[in-house]
Amino acid sequence: MIVSVVDKVVVITGSSKGIGRALATAFAKERAKVIINYLNSEDSAKQLYNEIIAYNSNCLLVKSDVTQQRDVNKLYNDTINTFGKVDVLINNAGICNDNPIQLMTEEQWTKVINVNLLGPYLCSRTFSKTMIQQKSGKIINIASLKGQDGCAGQVNYSASKSGLIGFTKALAKELGKFNISVNAVCPGFIVTDLNRHNEDKKKIAESKSLLSLDTALNDLLSFLVYMTSDMFMGISGRIFNVDSRIL
Ligand code: NAI
Repeated sequence: MIVSVVDKVVVITGSSKGIGRALATAFAKERAKVIINYLNSEDSAKQLYNEIIAYNSNCLLVKSDVTQQRDVNKLYNDTINTFGKVDVLINNAGICNDNPIQLMTEEQWTKVINVNLLGPYLCSRTFSKTMIQQKSGKIINIASLKGQDGCAGQVNYSASKSGLIGFTKALAKELGKFNISVNAVCPGFIVTDLNRHNEDKKKIAESKSLLSLDTALNDLLSFLVYMTSDMFMGISGRIFNVDSRIL
C-alpha cells in the first residue's frame, strides 16, 4: 500500500505557525502543492515559504484573514489561478481567548467564534464551489476534544469547536452527493503559541492520556497525510480523536 499525496493541491489556513506550519512542511515534503496562509506573522510565513520552495517549487504564500470574505476570495483566487484546482481544504486557523464566563467579554466571545467557526464556514463555502464542479474534494476541520468534553474557562473556544463538529456533520451530508468528504480531526495536546502559557492544561492532558504525548504532532501529521491520500476515500462526517484520551 502506498500513501501518496503527490500533486494534491492542499490549502492550509493559519499555516505560518504551530500545527499549520508543521502540516505545510509535511505536505510539501510529500510533494503536495501547498498553499500557506497567514494573517499577521509575515516574517515567519516568508521564512517557511523560502524553506519549502528550496525543495518543492509548488508552493504559494497568501495573506488572508479567514474571517473576511474578501480575503478568503483572494486565497481562493490565488489558489485556483496558480494550480487550477483544489483537492483539500484544511480549516486549521484557530485561536483561544480564555476567561471565566463572568469575566469573558463579548469581544472575547465573538473573536473566538469568528476565527474558529465563521472562518471554516467562509472558506468551505468558497472552496467547495470548485470542489462541486470537480466532483471531488476533501474538507478537513481541525476541531478539538474540548468541543466534545468542554473546558472550564474556555466556553467560547469549546462552543466554537462543538459548532465546528456540528458543521462538519451537516456539511458532509450536503456535499456527499458531489463526492466531497468533510471530516474533523481533534488533535492530541501539542505545545504551540495557543497553549504554551498554560502548563496546567498540559498536565491535565498528560494525566488523561493512555500513551505518551511525545508523538502527538507526528501522529497528527501522518493521520492528515493519510486522510488526504487516495487510500482514504469513502469516509465522511466523522470526528477523529487523534490521541489516547478516552472521554
Ligand atoms: P497557533 O496559535 O500556533 O496557530 C494558529 C494559527 O492560526 C496562527 O498561524 C494564526 O496566525 C492563525 N490565525 C489566527 N487567526 C487567523 C485568521 N483570522 N485568519 C488566518 N489565520 C489566522 O495554534 P495551533 O495550536 O497550531 O492551532 C491550530 C489549530 O489546532 C487550531 O484550530 C486549534 O484550535 C487546534 N487545536 C490545537 C491543539 C493543540 O494542542 N495545539 C489541540 C486541539 C486543537
